[in-house]
Amino acid sequence: MDTKIILSEKEMPQRWYNILPDLPKPLPPVIHPGTRQPIKPEDLAPIFPMALIQQEMSQERWIEIPDPVADIYRLYRPTPLRRAKNFEKAIKTKARIYFKDESVSPPGSHKPNTAIAQAYYNKAEGVKRIATETGAGQWGSALAFSCKMFDIECVIYMVKVSYEQKPYRKLLCQTWGATMYPSPSEQTNFGKKVLKDDPVCPGSLGIAISEAVEDAAGREDTKYSLGSVLNHVLLHQTIVGLETKKQLELAGEKPDVLIGCVGGGSNFGGFIMPFVTDKVKGKDIRFVAVEPKACPTLTKGLYKYDFGDTACTTPLLKMFTLGHNFIPPGIHAGGLRYHGAAPLICHLLENKLIEAVSFYQKECFEAAVRFARTEGFLPAPETAHVIRAVEVEAKDAPEGKVIVYNHSGHGHFDLAAYQAYFDGKLEDYDYPEAKIKAALADLPDIE
Ligand SMILES: Cc1ncc(COP(=O)(O)O)c(C=O)c1O
Repeated sequence: MDTKIILSEKEMPQRWYNILPDLPKPLPPVIHPGTRQPIKPEDLAPIFPMALIQQEMSQERWIEIPDPVADIYRLYRPTPLRRAKNFEKAIKTKARIYFKDESVSPPGSHKPNTAIAQAYYNKAEGVKRIATETGAGQWGSALAFSCKMFDIECVIYMVKVSYEQKPYRKLLCQTWGATMYPSPSEQTNFGKKVLKDDPVCPGSLGIAISEAVEDAAGREDTKYSLGSVLNHVLLHQTIVGLETKKQLELAGEKPDVLIGCVGGGSNFGGFIMPFVTDKVKGKDIRFVAVEPKACPTLTKGLYKYDFGDTACTTPLLKMFTLGHNFIPPGIHAGGLRYHGAAPLICHLLENKLIEAVSFYQKECFEAAVRFARTEGFLPAPETAHVIRAVEVEAKDAPEGKVIVYNHSGHGHFDLAAYQAYFDGKLEDYDYPEAKIKAALADLPDIE
């Protein structure tokens, strides 16, 4: 059996898959924070280009990938599906483990799958400048790369703890021409307010989103771009699941379980959606979302309407949330430190179509090192979480169980986190119950 299953460029999917028309129950609407009514396309126009707003609400099952987007995808797509035979042996499992390797893109993760599309649609509508936030720097670097491909200015608010822990990712963004600010920053009114209340605030994705939205809303030439959570982002990521489906067919494999880590839910969402529709039609397959114990959105959050950011400027999304004021402990998987998750993922969880599990960061780094020492590839700290979940799924698995996971990124810019692990300095944070309870008390009052 082959170690890697490769598709030719001609076999790259030409359309993204939109699950919205195939959901057994409709997705709860996004609510306007002022009127408390379902949001209308024109409400979102100040911060997003119209093409993306239409995709956000589209009921079309298949959406064409524009040629200029496909041309840039071909720099790294189709990505390989790899069999982790050495890792299987090392953990003594009877399961067959495959991973979809999204770490081969220029920025090193799945994030450019949507960044390229978003930069393209912004360019097509004459946008000159895009503002965004980034956690670990994976999203920021993906957008910086994509903006450079379409000659758009890129401004990035990077969560301060990551800005300090990951100077090389910041430099990668700068190499692609982006302007970087540590968030909370002095650039926005909201950043200034946070710093006044807490001068040593480590930042969070929620705060950085508020800053990027404020930046975009205040300027005619600028739009905002989000790297996860929203329907159109998950839509663009379905290229991952569509390729995986073809590759598993080529390998003659029927997957029993698909696993992915969840920050905002985009890599997991894009990976599983083309398979979820089979489950809805009765196929026997499981989907497992993995998150950190320090930020246990899906396993401990409440399924309620909440804001996507800390300043309460975004529309209200129905999602599992730990509260928009929750600032998670500074774990190294910066991309998993988000108080909410994609409404689509939350809807699937609420309807029991997917499951969720959580792990401590040390056990994830242990698993990642085991993986690197057998398969060679060094996983991102976020990806380390899914590898730990794969180990748990593989333990005592019956002969021939097929486990497939999304290898969302490499860890080449996360070596300081590995160093902390090797030096015994990595801390496990228990479920921050009191902080979450306080943050949940501030949820908006909408059913
Ligand atoms: C490598 C990697 N994996 C996973 C994630 C989590 O994001 P999402 O849930 O949107 O895929 C991130 C986010 O930054 C990331 O960089």
